[in-house]
Amino acid sequence: MSKVTVIGAGNVGATCANVLVTEGIADEVVLLDIKEGVSEGKAMDIMQSANILGLKSVIKGVTNDYAASEGSDVVVITSGIPRKPGMTREELIGVNAGIVKSVTDNVLKHSPNAIIICVSNPMDTMTYLIHKESGLPKNRIIGMGGALDSARFRYFLSQALGANYNDVDGFVIGGHGDTTMIPMTRYAVCRGVPVTELLDKETLDKVAADTMVGGATLTKLLGTSAWYAPGAAAASLVRAILSDSKSMITCSALVEGEYGLNDMCIGVPCVLGKNGIEKVVEYKLNDEEKALLDKSAAAVAKTNTALPC
Ligand code: LAC
Repeated sequence: MSKVTVIGAGNVGATCANVLVTEGIADEVVLLDIKEGVSEGKAMDIMQSANILGLKSVIKGVTNDYAASEGSDVVVITSGIPRKPGMTREELIGVNAGIVKSVTDNVLKHSPNAIIICVSNPMDTMTYLIHKESGLPKNRIIGMGGALDSARFRYFLSQALGANYNDVDGFVIGGHGDTTMIPMTRYAVCRGVPVTELLDKETLDKVAADTMVGGATLTKLLGTSAWYAPGAAAASLVRAILSDSKSMITCSALVEGEYGLNDMCIGVPCVLGKNGIEKVVEYKLNDEEKALLDKSAAAVAKTNTALPC
């Protein structure tokens, strides 16, 4: 029996919980929020879809009752405020750092062996904060950003190519920020063919630019941060862990020398399995990509300096 707790029953947390239940990724899901009634209501709503969809998993909603999360295999932290149109993710640090810190303490009291997935923004910095706060081994703390950014990259590539989105592969490394993420165009393929052979430079540059501001574009349209793809991206990490899939997904991981980077969490391709991050995969970067990653890392490191720890 697998148990997953999702902290925060806002749009992203509730969507993640819904995917976990409807896809049968976790047997038991707990949805926890500080706001009375919200998680209970959303969990009940999801459970009422269970007989329509023929589901097997169960979900329970609780208000701030961390005891209900006891013994979770994976905990997804989505707590904190989302950005509003025109805001950067980095501007959320003041409020969200305090929230993520106290949530982490509470989570570990009840699930000391859990693998933690961080969704809260600024995501790389919040993932790093969880490392500092918990002292857990680095394989057990995973930031969700790259999974989402890579999905957006594949979406924009499939649109530009006029191809089925399942035929496109590609990944994004670097920070989860409008100016810090790095779509790895050179390694992207459609049905095994490099996209650099299928699209001209101008189109590829536009795909990369659209990917980088993918979150901001949706925030402008929706008036708040996106949730369907972010929630699904978080759930995809849970799936890789619980099924011990050994899938390679870009995640924010604590780097210790990989790509020449240290002492920060940043998006790098990771192999995920039952132990969380089981390996960081080091692709060969050319000079331009390496320079972009170094610039991205400098920006993430700068945001980290604003942390209270
Ligand atoms: C986004 C938020 C979740 O990129 O960071 O939509």
